[in-house]
Amino acid sequence: MQLGVFGASGQVGNVMRQILAERDFPADQVRFFASSRTAGTTLPWKDETIVVEDTATADFTGLDLAVFSAGATMSRQYAEKVVAAGATVVDNSSAWRLDPGVPLVCSEVNPEDVVNPPKGIISNPNCQTMAILPAVKALHDVAGLTRLIVTTFQAVSGSGLAGVQTLNDQVNALANPTTLAYDGRYDDCGDQGPYVAPIAFNVIPIAGKLVDDGTGETDEEVKVRLEARKILHLPELPIQATCVRVPVFSGHSVAVNLEFATPITPDQALAVLAQAPGVALRDVPTPRWATGKDPSYVGRIRADQSAQPGHGLTMFVSNDNLRKGAALNAIQILELIV
Ligand SMILES: NC(=O)c1ccc[n+]([C@@H]2O[C@H](COP(=O)([O-])OP(=O)(O)OC[C@H]3O[C@@H](n4cnc5c(N)ncnc54)[C@H](OP(=O)(O)O)[C@@H]3O)[C@@H](O)[C@H]2O)c1
Repeated sequence: MQLGVFGASGQVGNVMRQILAERDFPADQVRFFASSRTAGTTLPWKDETIVVEDTATADFTGLDLAVFSAGATMSRQYAEKVVAAGATVVDNSSAWRLDPGVPLVCSEVNPEDVVNPPKGIISNPNCQTMAILPAVKALHDVAGLTRLIVTTFQAVSGSGLAGVQTLNDQVNALANPTTLAYDGRYDDCGDQGPYVAPIAFNVIPIAGKLVDDGTGETDEEVKVRLEARKILHLPELPIQATCVRVPVFSGHSVAVNLEFATPITPDQALAVLAQAPGVALRDVPTPRWATGKDPSYVGRIRADQSAQPGHGLTMFVSNDNLRKGAALNAIQILELIV
């Protein structure tokens, strides 16, 4: 079996290479692809190195499986070509997620959807939706979800290497942040990179781009609603999201409010979540704790006092956006296909 990793030189690609090796993915041959910028360089694979191929000029013949993590434009341009060459593609970008002919799969929630993908492509969900769905699905199965409200706290690594570089540069540019906190000169910290405001020592209540549809929502907020509905097979579920970028390098967190058809107590929820695949309980989940680990850490589970009595829960989730939020779930989909 021949596996192609597209975007192998990126942040997610790097984690993918590590996880494929850790889980001893049963490929006979692995090929790495990126842009012409890194083509010809080598990347480590187990005890050897592999020369990176240029996606634009490569011959895809021989690939059985491919995993794409190189942005939506690249996926739109090449995924169907790789399928035409004989491979099944697992795509990490937003390009195909809402296409009715493309299953959108979270491995703990709807693994059955990987069977016979009509277009030969299976999509990997966005990272903030992925962080919450293993827990949300387990609770939905026992109490019937009727409404979902989320506020995200998204790490800069979710904006690609550009986000990481921007936070790093801004923190380094602020030689004495304690002093700056009192004289308001935060804006002196340099280039804003992919953000609409300085990200160092700040919180930006716009993660993603504003959608031009009059709703005032960002594309990240729309993704949470549409992707969660598709994965849960609940096309009408009322969902509202506020997506916020925070100065954390890695690990997305989400405050979640859930309402259910059937009453459920925090103790019952704890018992359900203790058994849920992909979920680990933790009193105080934080992105620093979650980074480098596989599960979605869930804690601060309380009754939602604003819901119909007994029918609402509030919880906090932290998860590694580069592992389960991107690379790990994509590899779990590959494993389901195999
Ligand atoms: N970061 C996250 O938390 C996260 C979570 C879920 C999904 N994703 C998705 O995963 C993808 C990659 O994210 P990332 O954070 O790894 O980005 P990144 O670090 O910026 O890496 C981008 C990768 O794509 C390659 N690439 C870019 N343009 C290309 C082109 N025209 N042709 C071929 N290869 C090209 C780059 O190759 P070069 O090295 O040659 O430039 C690099 O390997 C995106 O679709 C993103 O939406 C990210």
